[in-house]
Amino acid sequence: MSDKVVCITGCGRGLGRALWGEFLRQGWRVAGCVRDPAVGRQLADEAAATTGPDAQGAGRALAVVADVTDEAAVARFAREVVAWGGAPDLLLNNAAVITANAPLWQVPADDFNRLTAVNINGVAAVLRHFLPPMIERGRGVVVNFSSGWGRSVSPEVAPYCASKWAIEGMTRALAEELPPGLAAVPLNPGVIDTDMLRSCFGDAAGGHPDAATWARRAVPQLAALGPADTGRPATIS
Ligand SMILES: NC(=O)c1ccc[n+]([C@@H]2O[C@H](COP(=O)([O-])OP(=O)(O)OC[C@H]3O[C@@H](n4cnc5c(N)ncnc54)[C@H](OP(=O)(O)O)[C@@H]3O)[C@@H](O)[C@H]2O)c1
Repeated sequence: MSDKVVCITGCGRGLGRALWGEFLRQGWRVAGCVRDPAVGRQLADEAAATTGPDAQGAGRALAVVADVTDEAAVARFAREVVAWGGAPDLLLNNAAVITANAPLWQVPADDFNRLTAVNINGVAAVLRHFLPPMIERGRGVVVNFSSGWGRSVSPEVAPYCASKWAIEGMTRALAEELPPGLAAVPLNPGVIDTDMLRSCFGDAAGGHPDAATWARRAVPQLAALGPADTGRPATIS
């Protein structure tokens, strides 16, 4: 068991959910946000089952209800996490959405605006509230989830590409601002069979690894990130 704390946005499904379980299994204390309170209760129950009643049980995990587009909710999320476990050692900005496949000019304005609100503004909101305590503590790694589509493009996913190229730029600029001891890393997680991948690949998503398999590989690579990695685009191999 370690006293290290990882904080993950968007733990209800997909990669966030798999990381929640795998970090717990690998001995970390895990905090995260979900949008649905019922999912938060499920995560707490899973955490108690993973760590066992004599290993502080759910005390090793904290699920907070917060939507990353809600500034007040993100502020409360950060306060609750820091009160529970201190400033996180590792902050994973994982939560994101994708629009239905379509050429850019056919994407409804509301869908485009919602995507940028979650994928860009939501990440900035989380950083606004978590970085001050991390900077005060003098260490910690921020990993902002990018994509292969943050470094290349494909048709029909232009809003998503725009948001992930923004994440790459924002993270690399942030890396130049952070004091020594902290790191900001844009991460391409690879290609994993989740609801998001099904949205763009359809059934072909099934040819890619599932999230649990991916998380077993990803957690040691995420845990190994440190100040020397700041500003360097990373990829889960
Ligand atoms: N899967 C891939 O192959 C792939 C490839 C490249 C990059 N990525 C990136 O990896 C990350 C995870 O993707 P995924 O495939 O796991 O996606 P996913 O299965 O669609 O899961 C997305 C997660 O984000 C949460 N979320 C969405 N909007 C939110 C909001 N406003 N506030 C808080 N949480 C919110 C969702 O919560 P709800 O359940 O409440 O909706 C869900 O838990 C994303 O950043 C994605 O861009 C994935």
